[in-house]
Amino acid sequence: MLTLTQSISKIIKKAFNDAGYDENFGQVSISNRPDLCEFQCNGALMAAKQYHKAPIAIANEVAEKIEEGFFESVLVAPPGFINLKISSKALLKHVTGMFGDEKFGFETLGNNKKVIIDYGGANVAKPLHVGHLRPAIIGESIKRILEFDGYDAIGDVHLGDWGLQIGLIITELKRRQPGLPYFDESFTGEYPKEAPFTITDLEEIYPYASKYSKTDEQYRDEAKQATKLLQDGHRGFRAIWQHILDVSITDLKKNYDNLNVHFELWKKESDANVYIPEIIEDLKNRGLARTDQGALVVDVKEENDQKEMPPCILQKSDGAYLYASTDVATIYERKKLFDPAWIIYVVDKRQGLHFEQVFRTCRKAGIVSDDIKLTFLGNGTMNGEGGKPFKTRDGDVLRLEYLIKSIVDKVAERMADSDIPEEEKKKICDMVGLAAIKYGDLSNQATKDYVFDIDRFTSFDGNTGPYILYTLVRIKSLLQKLGIGDKFDCVSALDSNKGVSESEKKLWLTLAGFHDAMRKAADEIAPHKICTFIYETADQFNSFYHDNRIISQEDCEIKNRWTALLILVLGVVEKCVDMLGINVPDRM
Ligand code: ARG
Repeated sequence: MLTLTQSISKIIKKAFNDAGYDENFGQVSISNRPDLCEFQCNGALMAAKQYHKAPIAIANEVAEKIEEGFFESVLVAPPGFINLKISSKALLKHVTGMFGDEKFGFETLGNNKKVIIDYGGANVAKPLHVGHLRPAIIGESIKRILEFDGYDAIGDVHLGDWGLQIGLIITELKRRQPGLPYFDESFTGEYPKEAPFTITDLEEIYPYASKYSKTDEQYRDEAKQATKLLQDGHRGFRAIWQHILDVSITDLKKNYDNLNVHFELWKKESDANVYIPEIIEDLKNRGLARTDQGALVVDVKEENDQKEMPPCILQKSDGAYLYASTDVATIYERKKLFDPAWIIYVVDKRQGLHFEQVFRTCRKAGIVSDDIKLTFLGNGTMNGEGGKPFKTRDGDVLRLEYLIKSIVDKVAERMADSDIPEEEKKKICDMVGLAAIKYGDLSNQATKDYVFDIDRFTSFDGNTGPYILYTLVRIKSLLQKLGIGDKFDCVSALDSNKGVSESEKKLWLTLAGFHDAMRKAADEIAPHKICTFIYETADQFNSFYHDNRIISQEDCEIKNRWTALLILVLGVVEKCVDMLGINVPDRM
C-alpha cells in the first residue's frame, strides 16, 4: 500500500496540477512543526521561482483546489507553506490497509535478490569478547530488516580459523603434551576421534600462548612456523585444527544462540584458501599484480583518493597469504557458490581500509562486476563508563559472557520485588537483559562509538529495551482482559470515528508512519531508524493509555476501535523488535 505521505502527496499533487502548476511541487512530508500541523508541503516556495509569482499566491490557489473531506484543516502560512491535518476518518481508512497483512501493507523492494551479510566476526579457539557484540547484534538486525524488505538474506559468520592463533595453540599443546601422536612425524595411523582438550582448556591455552609469545621470540617463530605448516597441509596439525574447530564451533553456536543471533552459513576463512593460488596466478598473468620487495601486491590507489591508499598485499615474501588474500578469495567463492547481488560486511570500522583495498582488488580483477554491490558497514566501539573500553580488572578484554551476566544481574535487581515464580523470573531477566543490551546498542547509529550505560540501558523508563518490552507486555495483558476472540474484525472496528481524541489520533498517525520508517531503515541499512519508530509508538501508546480507560469503556464502537488499535500496536511493534533480534516475554 502507499505510505501515508505518498497518499497525501498524491492529493496535493493533483491540486497543484488542477491549479495549473507542475504536480511535482506537491510532494508532502511529515511536519517539522507538529504543534502547527501534521503534514506540510513546501512546494509553493519552490514553484515561485519557476512561475515568477509570490509563493503565498500559489499556495492559496493550490489550497483552493484541495479535495474536501480528506483533511481536517488546510492552512496556508506565510511565506507559502501549506499546512495539513488529516481527518480522523481518512486516517482510519488509510490504516485499515495495515490489517490482515503480515507486513502491515509494507511494499517490499528486495525482489528476492540475494544478499550475503558477513557479520559476527568470531574466531575459533578464542572466546567471544565485548568487541564481538556489536557486529553480531547489528548484522543480525540488518539481515532481518532486509529479509522483511523481500531480500533473500543469508548470514555468514565467516569464522577466523586460519591465523596465528591456531599455530600458537599447536605450539603450546606440543610443549605441554609432546607425546601426542599429532607431533610424531613418523605416525601414519589414525588420530584419535576425541580432542585432547575441552573448550575450557582451549580458553586457557590460547590467552596463555598469546601472552607468552610476546615475551619469547623463539616461541613466536615456532608458532608462525606451525601456522605455515598447517596451511601447507601438515597432517598432524590439520587433525589438531579439526579438533579445535569441532570444540570451538559447538561452543560458539551455543553463545550465539544465547544472543538470539543465528547464521545460515558457518563458513570459515580457510574455505576460501583453495582459490587463492588461481586468483594470484590470474592477476599475475594479466599484469595486475606486481612484486614489491618480494611480496605480491595489487595497486588500488585511485586518482581522486583523499586519503592514503596503500597497495593490497596478497602474498608475503615467504609465500604466506594474508587476511586480504583470504577476503579477496572469499568474495570469489561467494560469487561462485551463491552469486549474490549484494554483500554487506558488518565489521569493526577500524577495518575500513582493509575492506576498501579488498573491494578494489576484486573490482580490478573482475572477480565482481559493477552490478554487484559491496558494502562495508563499519561499526563503532561500545565503551564502558567514562568512554573507556570495557576491560577486566587485569586490563584484558572483557569476555562477552561476563558483560551479559552483569547486565542480567542488574535487571534481576530491578525485578527483585516482582512476585513471578523464580524460575520464570530468571528467564524473563535473561530476555529483558538481552533486550537492554540490543536496544541500547541498536538505538545508536551503527557507525558511531557509544557508552554502554548499564544503569540507563536497564531502566524501565525512557528510550530503553526494558521500557519497550514493558509496554508490549502491558498491551498483551490489556488484550487478554478484553478477551477478544479470533473472529474479532479489526477492519470493521475502524468504520466509526466516534470520539477520536487527540492522543488516539496521534497514535494512529504514528503507526501509519511505520512504512516510511521501515523504508528508511532498509534503504539506509539503519536499525536505529526502527528504534526511533518503536520508541515514538510506545511513548504515544502510553499517553493514550493514560488518557483513556480502555477496559471500562462502555461505548462498543469506541471500545472495538481501541481494541483494533491495541492489536495493531502490538503487531507492528512486536514485528519491529523482532527485526532487532529481541524476544518479548508474556509478562514481566
Ligand atoms: N574474524 C575477524 C576479526 O576478528 C573479523 C572477520 C570479518 N569478516 C571478514 N570477512 N573479514 O577481526
